[in-house]
Amino acid sequence: MIAVVDFGGQTCHLINRRIGELGADSLVVGYKTNIEKLKNLEGIIFSGGPSFVNLPDSPTIDKAVFNLGVPVLGICYGMQLMGKLLGGKVGRGKVKEFGIVPVNLKKSVLFEGCAGRQKVLMSHGDQVIKLPSGFINLGSSKDVLNAAMSKDNLLAIQFHPEVVHTLAGKKILENFIFKICHARRVKNKDLWLKNKVQLIKERVGKDKVICGLSGGVDSATAAAIVYKAVGKQIQCVYVDTGLMREGETEEIKKYFGKSLIVVQAQKLFLAALKGVVDPEKKRKIIGRVFIDIFEKKAAGAKFLVQGTIYPDVIESAGSSNKTASKIKTHHNVAGLPEKMNLKLIEPLRELYKDEVRVLAKKLDLAKNIIERQPFPGPGLAIRIRGEVTRERLTRLRQADKILQEEIKQPTWQTFCIYVPLKTTGVKGDGRSFDEMIAIRSLTSVDAMTADWTRLPYALLAKVSSRIVNEVPGINRVVYDITTKPPATMEWE
Ligand code: XMP
Repeated sequence: MIAVVDFGGQTCHLINRRIGELGADSLVVGYKTNIEKLKNLEGIIFSGGPSFVNLPDSPTIDKAVFNLGVPVLGICYGMQLMGKLLGGKVGRGKVKEFGIVPVNLKKSVLFEGCAGRQKVLMSHGDQVIKLPSGFINLGSSKDVLNAAMSKDNLLAIQFHPEVVHTLAGKKILENFIFKICHARRVKNKDLWLKNKVQLIKERVGKDKVICGLSGGVDSATAAAIVYKAVGKQIQCVYVDTGLMREGETEEIKKYFGKSLIVVQAQKLFLAALKGVVDPEKKRKIIGRVFIDIFEKKAAGAKFLVQGTIYPDVIESAGSSNKTASKIKTHHNVAGLPEKMNLKLIEPLRELYKDEVRVLAKKLDLAKNIIERQPFPGPGLAIRIRGEVTRERLTRLRQADKILQEEIKQPTWQTFCIYVPLKTTGVKGDGRSFDEMIAIRSLTSVDAMTADWTRLPYALLAKVSSRIVNEVPGINRVVYDITTKPPATMEWE
């Protein structure tokens, strides 16, 4: 068993997932765990975290953890903590590093099988400035002298091996787990689905269940799992928020057929969002309106099924460990009202999107549902930077339809954002002072990190020209070329 000590990192749970994928057993533990409990483990990994190790109340751990004889790998904040606790010096670097950067790695067991120069994901402001006594440097980047360090079975890296954008990340974790910790390989657990279905069956008993279906893969998979458990006791409800894309509601109705209850709530959402510009307020309002509707439609149901997945939970700081930063209030997690009559069933809460897609395939869901681009529950409301109005929604729908018509290559997500910032233009020899559409196109595997798609210039040119010509009130189109992190995928 490998323990992943959670210092509040967004990707702590992802480290745990990767170890499972590599075939070892692991669990996430809080940083306040009694270290006596760690002494018989095969290895310990310190996760990243948002804090600064030199602050008096920053998360820490008993220094004796390094004397247990158990190998320790520190990642990002975990490296800085190891550096500081063992007498090194941690401070702000000359520059902060956020994004994919090249590092030079030295020969070591940890980096066996990895090229000496690697692209890795860095996301930090601080770094180990002076190594603790006895440690050797194992790598560096342009702005971080100590990007990796080790002493015997204590190792640390400043970058994140758990994210897919660190290409050699899995190999590095594999080396740590099997070559340094000598962890036992466990058999893959294919029992997950069976256990989940059984637990839901026992929890629901003879009660009725409603399920919020959005047409996306998460809610459809959650519904299919619960259907397996309770059959006809489940009633699926689709809420037309008026924040959907062009033609989406019709498509969903056609696919799910007559058994789906469709609630027309366009006016309700628009009225609730009137005058609201703050993204977090928008998300909370949307979460509340959704629940109001589900409670009204419950018709005696005791449970509400949601397709919540792990990135929604961690970004909303909704995990059991309260050390993680809140990045945004996902409508289905922190956007929920404090008091709710319906009890939640969220079978996918610990999974990532790519794992959900594998499960959806196993459950025989249609290909177009499995491959559908993720679309956030708050819909176009969080793709309009600022107040949501009917006119802006119409313009955004038009622009997005053009983009979807023109783009042929599959991506994780490709969409338009409405930017209500007026800039000067010239249309038909006259001055225009109109608003803007931004295009965002991303590749990702698990939504935790993402790179922007290098869409062909000819395609961008065509989309841009069509948008400024066909969508009223728009005289400029821009292309977002920011990775996640430091940006998130959506603009709000
Ligand atoms: P961000 O913008 O946080 O998005 O990088 C990661 C993925 O999650 C989707 N997303 C949401 N999905 N409710 C959802 O159901 C939300 O409140 C929400 N916010 C973001 C986003 O589209 C992306 O795929």
